[in-house]
Amino acid sequence: MNAVPSSKPVLRVLSGEPIWPLPIWLMRQAGRYLPEYRQVRAAAGSFLDLCYNPTLAAEVTLQPIRRFGFDAAILFSDILVIPHALGQDVTFAEGEGPRLDPVASRADLHRLAETLPLERLAPVFETLERVRGRLPAETTLLGFCGAPWTVASYMIAGKGTPDQAPARILAYRDPGFMLSLIDRLTEASIAYLTAQIDAGAEAVQIFESFGAALPPALFGPLSVDPIRAIVRGLKGARPRAKAIVFVRGGGANLARVVEAGFADAVALDWSLDLDIVLPELPEELATQGNLDPVALIAGGDPLRHGIDAVLRAAKGRAHVFNLGHGILPETPIAHVEEMIARVRGAA
Ligand code: CP3
Repeated sequence: MNAVPSSKPVLRVLSGEPIWPLPIWLMRQAGRYLPEYRQVRAAAGSFLDLCYNPTLAAEVTLQPIRRFGFDAAILFSDILVIPHALGQDVTFAEGEGPRLDPVASRADLHRLAETLPLERLAPVFETLERVRGRLPAETTLLGFCGAPWTVASYMIAGKGTPDQAPARILAYRDPGFMLSLIDRLTEASIAYLTAQIDAGAEAVQIFESFGAALPPALFGPLSVDPIRAIVRGLKGARPRAKAIVFVRGGGANLARVVEAGFADAVALDWSLDLDIVLPELPEELATQGNLDPVALIAGGDPLRHGIDAVLRAAKGRAHVFNLGHGILPETPIAHVEEMIARVRGAA
């Protein structure tokens, strides 16, 4: 049976079709730069209370779609709900970011669940079901998870760190322990993403936000191999699911993800020059990115030049316009509107 071609621009790009004007969505598009988000956030209690409240999480997922008409909605949740569901203490201190009870030893790992208790994440799946029924017909619904290395580095350090040193030290000192944590997160991520697809997500993005921290010898076993296992596991279970892989600080490591050949799309961070990178990638591989989120704060000529550079380099390719990392809270809404108009009006 032939698959019915999708009318959704993002899904068509993820299948390798060049579309013009480029479809657009933004990493972290639901968030504090939106007054309507801040309002719901203030009423919700803690950040995790918001993530686990399907009514409110669906509402904030839909806010940027209503305001800007983006071509994709991304589930409102966080990469740290997996460690939380496995039994680790996770809190979000106001203005300080995530705080976790660090996993420092095999005993700490043994205290966590062996397999992901999916029922603890039921509110996330209910959020997707609610959003699915309320999206415009052309809007793609995206699920996501963190890549095992990025999630593990939070689990080990107990917080964000500038260089992920605690996790890297552990990887050198006790590779067996590191690999068992990575394996557990890989299996959990396959189960989690499969359930997201069942709840209505059409594609997923895997965030390797700390890819740049891994030395070459560890990038294979701790990043590429587990991400490939997740995508293969997901596609084995749900063959129509599409996968976008974001490796921040990719550089040479990005080439290894591309070579491994399992992703439908690679999301490129803002440090990469698309004029150099795109011609080297296989034509049928979709790409996404990569405007500097800070250019979106600055506005003016730097913003217009940044947008035009992406458009020029990506024209004729299967490319989704996006930022090269998440949108920042101080971003003026007028700049987001200007960016969308420029991308959609591009000749
Ligand atoms: O893209 C979206 O709009 C969907 C929601 C989403 C959030 N986090 C909501 C969020 C997604 C996809 C994430 C992913 C995420 N979370 C990543 C990977 C992407 C990246 O940015 O590199 C990482 C590393 C995290 C961990 C995390 N969550 C941190 C470091 C922080 C604190 C930093 C900050 O921006 O405050 C969070 C909290 C968080 N996750 C917020 C949002 C909207 C802000 C919390 C708040 O509203 O109080």
